[in-house]
Amino acid sequence: MSALLEVKDLTVSLKSHCGEVQAVRGVDFVVNEGEVLAIVGESGCGKSVTAQTIMGLLPKKLIKRQSGSIRFQGQELMGLSRSQLRKYKGAQMSMVFQDPMTSLNPTMKIGHQIIEGIVKHQKLSKKVAKQKAIELLHLVGIPHPEERYRQYPHELSGGMRQRVLIAIALSCHPKLIIADEPTTALDVTVQAQILDILKDLKTRLKTSIILITHDLGVVAEIAQRVIVMYAGKVVEKGTVEDILEHPNHPYTKALLSSLPRTDAKEKIRLKPIEGTPPDLYSPPKGCPFAPRCDNAMEICLQGMPKETRLSDSHISHCWLNDERCPSLKERLMLLNAEEGRKQA
Ligand SMILES: Nc1ncnc2c1ncn2[C@@H]1O[C@H](COP(=O)(O)OP(=O)(O)OP(=O)(O)O)[C@@H](O)[C@H]1O
Ligand code: SF4
Ligand SMILES: [Mg+2]
Repeated sequence: MSALLEVKDLTVSLKSHCGEVQAVRGVDFVVNEGEVLAIVGESGCGKSVTAQTIMGLLPKKLIKRQSGSIRFQGQELMGLSRSQLRKYKGAQMSMVFQDPMTSLNPTMKIGHQIIEGIVKHQKLSKKVAKQKAIELLHLVGIPHPEERYRQYPHELSGGMRQRVLIAIALSCHPKLIIADEPTTALDVTVQAQILDILKDLKTRLKTSIILITHDLGVVAEIAQRVIVMYAGKVVEKGTVEDILEHPNHPYTKALLSSLPRTDAKEKIRLKPIEGTPPDLYSPPKGCPFAPRCDNAMEICLQGMPKETRLSDSHISHCWLNDERCPSLKERLMLLNAEEGRKQA
């Protein structure tokens, strides 16, 4: 598989009334042609800012600093002006957001909203564009597409509106779709239907998908590879099997153990991850997960863990994999010394 999108050392700081938020801190990943890459991690870890930076959607006035490389089909996108980016990207990438109601124009009929994209990118007549729009509505599983074409967003259910958004995203035949929590606002049955549509796109149209989700069940169902983000960084990445069956990073393990086990005979109590992620206004110099990690050692507070390649596909950033990590015996001695200090 060849790389469609390569993101290297992506770093984004945003302006806010409290100062500079270091939302994305040196993120690296690749999306191959025709694959689904899932990005998972707790709220505020930088998933959406990463996606919006790739799409060039962050308002300019919000960005304090931005660096790194975003190569799409070998072309560097970082540093291009907004108009160059729009022109180059044009029909290549689309985004589907969580809340279809705020992404759709409530005053415009569904059909016109789909046609806008088709006419803009494919320079077709309105008549042909209408035919294409109806085909797209059909493709995303909307019954009676001719009637729906003439309706307004409020006349459709949440699941139907999300299908319309996917149809709009598809209207320019993109090579890559970035779907940011596309099923979060929907009920379980509709979620499954939307996932089926995304799976179908991947198989039939060979569209690559970046799927941002909180739901590891969704990841297991649809993704081939996963990146796990924490406090603006990638802490672990690998194939779905690497991450779900052989997690290495303590944060990934904690995420997995906080999941309800649908395969379990008895109900297993959820174990939420205690504590909260660090403040991204002044992130710690060491491992950001340290305050919540049962394995944290002195070395974890001193500096950021380096990348460890566990296999061809599996990478983790944790001091436990590093040869400079103190041995277990030393760790126990440190813990005992700490206990002694506390009691003295
Ligand atoms: N418009 C904004 N202004 C200031 N800070 C922002 C803005 N948008 C995001 N941030 C900050 O950037 C960081 C990353 O946010 P981001 O929205 O990427 O998180 P996320 O992983 O998508 O979370 P969620 O799962 O809740 O959607 C957070 O600290 C957030 O507070
Ligand atoms: S580097 Fe240290 S604190 Fe961070 S996850 Fe690994 S063991 Fe825990
Ligand atoms: Mg988000």
